[in-house]
Formats: sequence, structure tokens, C-alpha cells
Amino acid sequence: MSTENMGTGSQFIALNDASMGGPAGEPAVLEAIHLRKYYPVRQFNPLGQRNMVHAVEDTSLALYPGRALALVGESGSGKTTVARMLARLYEPTAGTIMFRGEPVKGARRADLKGYRRHVQLVFQDPYSSLNPVHNVRYHLSRPLRLHSHAHTHAQETEQILALLNRVSLSPAEQFIQKYPHQLSGGQRQRVAIARALAVHPEVLLADEPVSMLDVSIRLDILNLLLRLKDEEQLALLFITHDIASARYFAENTLVMYAGQVVEGGPSEEVISRPRHPYTQLLISAAPDPDRLGPDGNVVAPLAGGRSSLPARGEIPSLINPPGGCRFHPRCPHAMPVCSQHFPKRTELGGGHWTHCFLYGDGGTDLAVNSLGNAQEPGGDKPRPYISKM
Ligand SMILES: Nc1ncnc2c1ncn2[C@@H]1O[C@H](COP(=O)(O)OP(=O)(O)OP(=O)(O)O)[C@@H](O)[C@H]1O
Ligand code: SF4
Ligand SMILES: [Mg+2]
Repeated sequence: MSTENMGTGSQFIALNDASMGGPAGEPAVLEAIHLRKYYPVRQFNPLGQRNMVHAVEDTSLALYPGRALALVGESGSGKTTVARMLARLYEPTAGTIMFRGEPVKGARRADLKGYRRHVQLVFQDPYSSLNPVHNVRYHLSRPLRLHSHAHTHAQETEQILALLNRVSLSPAEQFIQKYPHQLSGGQRQRVAIARALAVHPEVLLADEPVSMLDVSIRLDILNLLLRLKDEEQLALLFITHDIASARYFAENTLVMYAGQVVEGGPSEEVISRPRHPYTQLLISAAPDPDRLGPDGNVVAPLAGGRSSLPARGEIPSLINPPGGCRFHPRCPHAMPVCSQHFPKRTELGGGHWTHCFLYGDGGTDLAVNSLGNAQEPGGDKPRPYISKM
């Protein structure tokens, strides 16, 4: 990418740690630093109060070559908004996006064209992402031409056939002339993935790439993405509702709730030992046989030694979101402090971390005792507000 549309990176702190997606020491390809997105709400009274949807708050992540980061959360938690900011389809309200260590700037067409050569998005819906009046050749030839990868008709045909083979649509010669209505959902998604690969991207942002597909073919598409990630050393953001799939598919996982990132770290650790009550709720709603104990309960240590928990209510409105930790109206462990402040990040070891007052005091360096209760450094009594249940 041209450096014209980038500023100096010296004032930014690189988020190069395992909890953000990659091994320490390896530079990230793409980073989001303290991203925030507020959507203005259309209003009919021009003199009325200007409302905003607080869709994403202070979200940071990093993507590394050959590694996948899963972004997990319920509907409306802000996953697509994060992906669209990373793809530069939406301008962040605040925060910085860094590509290869340099802040990405510029909204000019040429800047965006250069950026999208490196960062591609695969949409959730393969039915609406392909134009029904154009055939497969058209869909794949456009990016090849736009980014000057093919100069002659013969080169174009050769590269389209190679792309179709890469996404296992074979015999490729039979698919090249087909129209979207002649393809199954899985085949359409393969074409959409081939279109993203046509520009030789370094980053693939896959926004729930299998959620609209038949269950029987989801694994095939996931395995295809996994193979491409390994073979082409793609840095992959894998957005999903299904936290169990993150364990098999992504090295690292980030959990979002109502626009706030609440837990992250190596997928195995986050999924087999979830600490944040919301992550526990997600996991108990999507049982994974490997994670269940002999009694069928989720093996998930919580403060006080509790395992899973019943949560109440639904994801809140983001126009007027709950203060502090946005999960507090649903959290059975909520304490008075939870509605007043959003807890800072507590490191749990091995790159695993969470934002929850059960494990820390929002940055005032509380230790967590053997029962998981927070206590003052050096003190042996749990803080009184910790155990509400
Ligand atoms: N263009 C927009 N204008 C206003 N609000 C929006 C816009 N796009 C998304 N939102 C709101 O922002 C919040 C986050 O939406 P987003 O689509 O990012 O969530 P998501 O986690 O991807 O959900 P899903 O799993 O349903 O796809 C929601 O409250 C949504 O209604
Ligand atoms: S910070 Fe408080 S409300 Fe939020 S998850 Fe932790 S205990 Fe529950
Ligand atoms: Mg979405």
C-alpha cells in the first residue's frame, strides 16, 4: 500500500501481544486501536435531542498472518460494525486502524482501492452479495481487472479457473459461465470467497460466512477458509454467533457484548475456561461436548467456584445503553459498581483477559484469590461487594 495515505506510526502503541491474536514479537498485519462507532439516529424533529446508536466502544484487536481471530457475540453486539470499519466501509467515530504498522488514512477513491487490495470482506449473505444478472466469470474478472492482475482475456480465464479450483469449485470450466441462481448457497459463498481472493489480499474479514448456509455444508466452507488461511498465510477475522466453532477455527477469540469487548485470549482457554459471565452464558447456550463435565454442566470456573449461570433479559438498546458494564442488567453477579464504571482489563494469565469486576477492580490492582474473589493486594478477605449470589 502506498505510504501517501498513511501518517507516522510513532505515536501509536502496537498491540502486538498474544491476547490480540498472534505470538509476541510477530508484527500484526492489521490492527484496530480503541475503535468506536456511533451511528446518528434519523430524527424527525430537527430541534430535538440528537440520539446516537452506541454500536462499538473502545475496541482493539490485531490480526496476524496465518492466524484466525474469532469475534463472537449475540446479534446486535457490534461485530459487523467492527468488520465494516476494518474494511473502511464505515468511518470510525474514534480510534485508529493500522495496516502493517502505519495508520490508515484517506477516504479518496484511490486510497480505498489501494487498501481493499489488501483487506477483503466476505459477507454473511451469499444470496445478495452476488449480482443475479451476472455470471461467475463477470464476478471474478472485475477484481482481476480493477487491480490489474490480468491484462488479456486468456490471462483472465486462466486466473478465474485457478480461483475456482482454489475454492474447490470443480470442474472449474463448468462453473465459469454459471449465474447465481444456478448455484447452491455453498457454491455462491465459494464464489464470494474466490472474488475476495482474486486481489491476493493479506487480510480476510469473514462476517458470519456460514450462518446463512445449510448446516450440512457449513463445515466444508469453514474448512475451506481454514485451508486458505494456512496455505496463503491470510490474517483472518472470523465473525460468528457460535462460540463453539471459534475453538476449532480460530487461534484466538474476542467476545463482544452490546458494543463492549468483554473477554479475549487463546480460543482454547476462553472457551474451556470462560471467566466473564457473558461468555459463560454464550457457552451454556451452545453446548460443546468437549467442554461439558461428567454431570453435563459446563466446566467454567467463576468467582466463588460457581459454574454456569442463568442470565435474564435481552441485549439492551444501544441508543441509551446501560452505564458501566452493559451486561449488568442481565448479570446475576452484578454489583453496584458495575453500573457505574466499565471495568478495566484484568490479565488472567497465558494471554487470557477479561473486563469484569469479579476478577479485578477496574485497574486498581486487586488480586483474585483461589475462589476467584477479588481482594486487596496482600489482604486475605474478599471484598464485601463481590459475592452477591
Ligand atoms: N447503519 C446503521 N445505522 C444505525 N444503526 C446501526 C447501523 N448498523 C448497525 N446499527 C446498529 O448497531 C448495533 C450493532 O450492529 P451490528 O450489525 O454491528 O451487530 P452484529 O453483532 O453484527 O449483529 P448480527 O449478529 O445481528 O449481525 C445494532 O444495535 C444495530 O442496530
Ligand atoms: S462487571 Fe459486574 S455486571 Fe459486568 S459481568 Fe462482571 S459482575 Fe457482571
Ligand atoms: Mg452482523
